[in-house]
Amino acid sequence: MNGDRKTSAPQGQEPFEVESRHPEEPQDPEERDEPEEREEPELDPVARARRAAALAQVRRFGDPVLRMRARPVERFDETLTAEIQRMGALMSDALGVGLAATQVGIVHRVLVYRVAPQASIAAVVNPEIEWSGREWEILEEGCLSLPAVLVDVERPIHIRVRAFNELGERILIEASGLEARVIQHEIDHLDGVLILDRASREQRKAAMRALREAREAA
Ligand code: NI
Repeated sequence: MNGDRKTSAPQGQEPFEVESRHPEEPQDPEERDEPEEREEPELDPVARARRAAALAQVRRFGDPVLRMRARPVERFDETLTAEIQRMGALMSDALGVGLAATQVGIVHRVLVYRVAPQASIAAVVNPEIEWSGREWEILEEGCLSLPAVLVDVERPIHIRVRAFNELGERILIEASGLEARVIQHEIDHLDGVLILDRASREQRKAAMRALREAREAA
């Protein structure tokens, strides 16, 4: 997920790859219709250059790999560790909050995320959502693979995920709010699903238009 959500991000970190609103933000439907000014964190030239370099390595909408279903990881070896390290560094440099392996052209069921700026980067391998709560909410998301796109996506607020860490140890993640949203967004990537697929028809059309314009401007 991309860090480009509209709410103000902590200094130096844009909301992620799934750009979503801050989970604590009141979700008054009327309020959601008001366009908010996006507060760009002040980036120094070095951070800006680093971000651009990282984004250049992230696959963009239109790349067929983003539509592939990733394969489970079978070997927990140095190759996997290196992949995870590279993904973490790219996500961090891109100021994202989450990144799926397919976004960097690796068709493995691996994702990384970091919701709080000071936290360490979590690596999740072969995730399976084993439980989702009944409560859902709609929040705005963006994606590092879909520059200039923000759409409303409805997802469960609470989830429980079984997975492995990079060492091959079983882990259980109980997540809520933004963390749950990022994990679901990245698992979607591993299934070839993009936020456009979860957006309303109207928002999808607007997003396609924005993508086309961004491509023409480039
Ligand atoms: Ni994404």
